[in-house]
Amino acid sequence: MTALDLAVSEDRLDDALRAAHRVVAAIDGGKIAAWLALGDAALPPHAGRPRHLKRMPLFAGDVLDPEQSHGRLLLQITGTSAQAVQDAAAQSLSKLPQWQIRWRMDGVRPENRTEAGRGLARNPFHFTEGYGNPASPAELDDRATVKAGQGEPGWAVGGSYQVIRIIRLATGFWDRDTVQEQERIIGRRRDGRWLDGTPADERAVFASDPDGKVTPLDAHVRRAAPDRRHPPPLVRRGYNYHRGADDQGLIFSCFQRDLTQGFEAVQHRLQGEAMAKYTLTVGGGYFFVPPPGNSWLNALT
Ligand code: HEM
Repeated sequence: MTALDLAVSEDRLDDALRAAHRVVAAIDGGKIAAWLALGDAALPPHAGRPRHLKRMPLFAGDVLDPEQSHGRLLLQITGTSAQAVQDAAAQSLSKLPQWQIRWRMDGVRPENRTEAGRGLARNPFHFTEGYGNPASPAELDDRATVKAGQGEPGWAVGGSYQVIRIIRLATGFWDRDTVQEQERIIGRRRDGRWLDGTPADERAVFASDPDGKVTPLDAHVRRAAPDRRHPPPLVRRGYNYHRGADDQGLIFSCFQRDLTQGFEAVQHRLQGEAMAKYTLTVGGGYFFVPPPGNSWLNALT
């Protein structure tokens, strides 16, 4: 993913956004998926702005590096071939002189697969991620997509708020813990099963463990989703990054229809979780993915 800033004067912003849309629409399809997301200052003042779109604030413990945070636009290209993704990124950026690179992150999804409708991958802590996402397309849409009646500008209906967090993980320190300790910190087994052995795709029952004897109260999944009947309305899809032995981690990415109820509610609950001493958020940003098609461009003029 590449975050971009405007390289031309502000009065050419509308045209620069149209050009970016055209270039990304042209590379979309086949083995590669590409999309644009708008940063908080992406739109000219006369376009109605998505209600929750703002500069990502600092959360407890964050050390945001401006050189890997925020950005006017986010260009994301995914695919099964790293070379094809890199070529598409290089080609599209060469056609966009109106934009300059603010930061760029390359990520991978080891053991990427879909099981019973859920996209799964293995994170740098050796745990399978994705089980907490919904399996049905209808529920994915319910959590991720902005609907009419949410008080959002008309052009934004069908779009999605995307949060990126570049989270550096202390993998050396983590790997010194036993697997059992790691599982108590996450609140699931490495293969996704719950700590009492319940299969990964069944619902855990935290109510029968109020003191956290089986799943500690400060375990990641328990903090993230304490009420199993009402899971937080967000859909996660992260990537691992590796920039050398002492800098690796997760490009956390999630989509939601409402930032306050989605990412922000979970992030606040995670404060003080047992995993915090192994993680450091150094970058990322808040973005808005416009709905498919080009009708959102009508908001520009
Ligand atoms: C620091 C890096 C992180 C790691 C290593 C990590 C790891 C995991 C793992 C292994 C799971 C269990 C499997 C699954 O349901 O996917 C999980 C679940 C989850 N995580 Fe994270 N996570 C991280 C950061 C975050 C952040 C920043 C958020 C949101 C603010 C978050 C929200 C969630 C949610 C909502 C679930 C699902 C809980 C459930 O429904 O059971 N995670 N995470």
